[in-house]
Amino acid sequence: METQAASDAHAAGFAVAVGERSRASIAAVLFDVDGVIADTARLHTEAWARLAALERLPFDRETAEALRGLSREDSLRRVLGARRVTQQSFHDMLDRKNAFYLELLEAAGPADCLPGAVGLLGEFAELGMRRAAVSLSRNAGRVLERLGIFERFDVIVDGTAQTGGSGLDRYHRAAALLGVAPRRCLVFEDSAAGIATAKNAGMRTIGLGDPRRLAAADMVFESLRGVSARCVLRWLGGSAATGEEPPAPGGCRIVAGHV
Ligand code: G1P
Ligand code: MG
Repeated sequence: METQAASDAHAAGFAVAVGERSRASIAAVLFDVDGVIADTARLHTEAWARLAALERLPFDRETAEALRGLSREDSLRRVLGARRVTQQSFHDMLDRKNAFYLELLEAAGPADCLPGAVGLLGEFAELGMRRAAVSLSRNAGRVLERLGIFERFDVIVDGTAQTGGSGLDRYHRAAALLGVAPRRCLVFEDSAAGIATAKNAGMRTIGLGDPRRLAAADMVFESLRGVSARCVLRWLGGSAATGEEPPAPGGCRIVAGHV
């Protein structure tokens, strides 16, 4: 049976324009995990700091900030700086850092969900949207389990997913698993690289964080705090379809956006 929220959504005609011509209603929402749903950056920082201390490598706030959005391997290269190590030692350090991270993750729980994320997921579920978690992290599934929200997703594509053989990027893969066309997917991402990947996949994008960094996104919010699903869908659809200024989005904190 259709919920009241879903019937409101249909009545409001949440059609979201894609590009200049075609129109498609959003049928699925794809959430990056680290930095969008999960407040994991401090755990990664703590794990790198532990490794650096044991290896007598300098590790300051600036280094920690520089690791944001880097892969596990690139992070270690940044932490090592000019120090040269054997390949064996490099892999050993990656494993130790990950072991520290997993140990820290054991103490994480629902309180480590970023503000607004769980409520927004619930709202999209009520609206009948399919939901995927999409991450480059090989630990994304574990993170979602610790946060108690694993079951809230229809599909989880993490960094262990074998996308190479199919030639699909992680967003295309999630859309295919959900059975939803890419143009009907809306992606929430906090990294510029993730926004670029999602846009290349033909999806609509919402950036979370600094609008200067995320200028390529269709819309940018400071965080998910106070963001409502209805508001986002109405704003995307309304402004794109009519060319009018978006309506004042009650409860939304829109930092920057262009549709
Ligand atoms: C990796 C990186 C981490 C990055 C994440 C993407 O996660 O280590 O810095 O934020 O991908 O979400 P890992 O596989 O190590 O969990
Ligand atoms: Mg992220």
